Amino acid sequence: MSTLLVDNIGELVTNVPGHGEGGPLGLRRRAAVLVEAGEVVWVGPARDAPAADRRIDVDGAAVLPGFVDSHAHLVFAGDRAAEFAARMAGQPYTGGGIRTTVGATRAASDDELRATVRRLRGEALRQGTTTIEVKSGYGLTVTDEARSLRIAAEVTDETTFLGAHVVPAEYADRPDDYVGLVCGPMLAAAAPYARWVDVFCERGAFDADHTRAILTCGQAVGLGVRVHANQLAPGPGVRLGVELGAASVDHCTHLTDADVDALASTRVDPGDGDGPHTTTVATLLPGAEFSTRSPYPDARRLLDAGVTVALATDCNPGSSYTSSMPFCVALAVREMRMTPAEAVWAATAGGARALRRDDIGVLRPGARADLVVLDAPSHLHLAYRPGVPLIRQVLHNGVPQ
Ligand code: NIG
Ligand code: FE
Repeated sequence: MSTLLVDNIGELVTNVPGHGEGGPLGLRRRAAVLVEAGEVVWVGPARDAPAADRRIDVDGAAVLPGFVDSHAHLVFAGDRAAEFAARMAGQPYTGGGIRTTVGATRAASDDELRATVRRLRGEALRQGTTTIEVKSGYGLTVTDEARSLRIAAEVTDETTFLGAHVVPAEYADRPDDYVGLVCGPMLAAAAPYARWVDVFCERGAFDADHTRAILTCGQAVGLGVRVHANQLAPGPGVRLGVELGAASVDHCTHLTDADVDALASTRVDPGDGDGPHTTTVATLLPGAEFSTRSPYPDARRLLDAGVTVALATDCNPGSSYTSSMPFCVALAVREMRMTPAEAVWAATAGGARALRRDDIGVLRPGARADLVVLDAPSHLHLAYRPGVPLIRQVLHNGVPQ
């Protein structure tokens, strides 16, 4: 099996605490990474680098683990640019536009949906995203949810059944019947293609009882739990997610002290060298606040309470039509008072935690060889130079893209 040496790295983000300069980013200077069969097999000082069959000299650039985008909705048709323009002219975001996308998605062919998923997956990869979670949620019939997940599974293993995104128009006056459909035939058709189950727990979408019922049914067939929680107003989503052992509660824009305490209560230190973390991660999606012109979540409050924070794009045609993790890092630093180190960690290792993965978001022997080479000497530049295409090269599974 041939080896590849990524050499002459000026600053390497390993996300291995205590490595190199210490801190959660585990920074190393003048480093090299050896890759074989899609895995990292060695990390160390460039001067000690072993011989390899091939070598990429990055000439002093910064290298970090590929971004882990743990929250995206890529399976849809059409766009809602006019809705965005109306918001920028003063209209509020209510989530009501989801039904517009549901109509367009149902009318689209498999190939049209597939083309959009692949286009957005490619767009994200070029911006350094090497792992992406993809949700269904714009089909909302048994066949349309199942095909959404089947198409999503062509580009990622991290697929999420979101049949409970909103109650579709044809069930508007009988939401209990829709919950029955989601827990019954829709879940049965979707589960073979899904790793996770998710519910949009919000006024106007699903209440606490419906959310609990759907998440519990998903768990019963082996799916992991994640929740769209507390996006538009305070509500029960975050505490319910914690109660059900969710890997992640996402948005977290409107939190009470009880919500923060509940998240903090999941903190553990398994003694594996990766440091303490909360088993339920708070995933923040600043692209949604940007695109809906809403107040940003209070990342500092969560971090100061010891809650593990992830950053993700929420890429979708309504509330956040960006596939760019560097953009989310820049927003998190400028608008949510995260330090650049916290934001880069949250966009890599944090996303991995939110997906309960220890093979990604980190660069150490045994990890997947997902690496991003920046056109910059330091990870600081991701927030310091917003909007600039800083992703020089991406290695995915050890393969230069
Ligand atoms: O995460 N909040 C619910 N779902 C998406 C938005 C979907 C849409 O507006 O189409 C979100 O923001
Ligand atoms: Fe979302």
